[in-house]
Amino acid sequence: MKFFIDTANLAQIREANDLGILDGVTTNPSLMAKEGIKGTDNVMKHYKAICDIVDGDVSAEVISTDFAGMIREGEILASIDEKIVVKIPMIKDGIKAIKHLTLMGIKTNCTLVFSSGQAILAAKAGATYISPFVGRLDDISYDGIQLIAEIAQIYAVQGFQTQILAASIRNPIHIIKSAQFGAHVITSPLESILALLKHPLTDIGLEKFLADHKKSNS
Ligand code: E4P
Repeated sequence: MKFFIDTANLAQIREANDLGILDGVTTNPSLMAKEGIKGTDNVMKHYKAICDIVDGDVSAEVISTDFAGMIREGEILASIDEKIVVKIPMIKDGIKAIKHLTLMGIKTNCTLVFSSGQAILAAKAGATYISPFVGRLDDISYDGIQLIAEIAQIYAVQGFQTQILAASIRNPIHIIKSAQFGAHVITSPLESILALLKHPLTDIGLEKFLADHKKSNS
């Protein structure tokens, strides 16, 4: 399973990349706004800066909601760097845009996926990735991980090549369960990735090993 970081924060992207386990980055307009990135030129420069850090796919989201606008934006975003994946919302014109961009050889990530029906449509259109939002489903008392499992089963039965990118990850359990139930990729805040490192018995065990070494070498 690939690990993407879900942020537009360059310091966090560098930190995750330095761990040696980073396969890509996802962003969205909210994450860009959080970093104070405004204006087309600055947005383009910021995507380029992210691409220069990471050796992997970088999702950049369109803000148009009509077919022509999404295609226009998609082409511009894709021209920034070959690592760019154009993120398109799961709407009717979005499906048409995914099909069009796919035929042009541009990678796409269908975002805001909340059902298996949406996942089937995006795969039919040829999306490179689909992003089911696990945490936002959990927030409204639906089982986000169950959706990952259902889509993974459908894609396996049907032989769809679209990769399931589990998004809206809120905690390390979401990462573990996404791996267990067949996500090809997770995109997560740095905090949840780092939380995977933690186990109290690791800390206690290491402390004892080091104390024993110190005793026998003093
Ligand atoms: C990433 O592709 C999604 O836009 C992101 O994971 C959404 O996360 P959120 O639900 O925490 O905003």
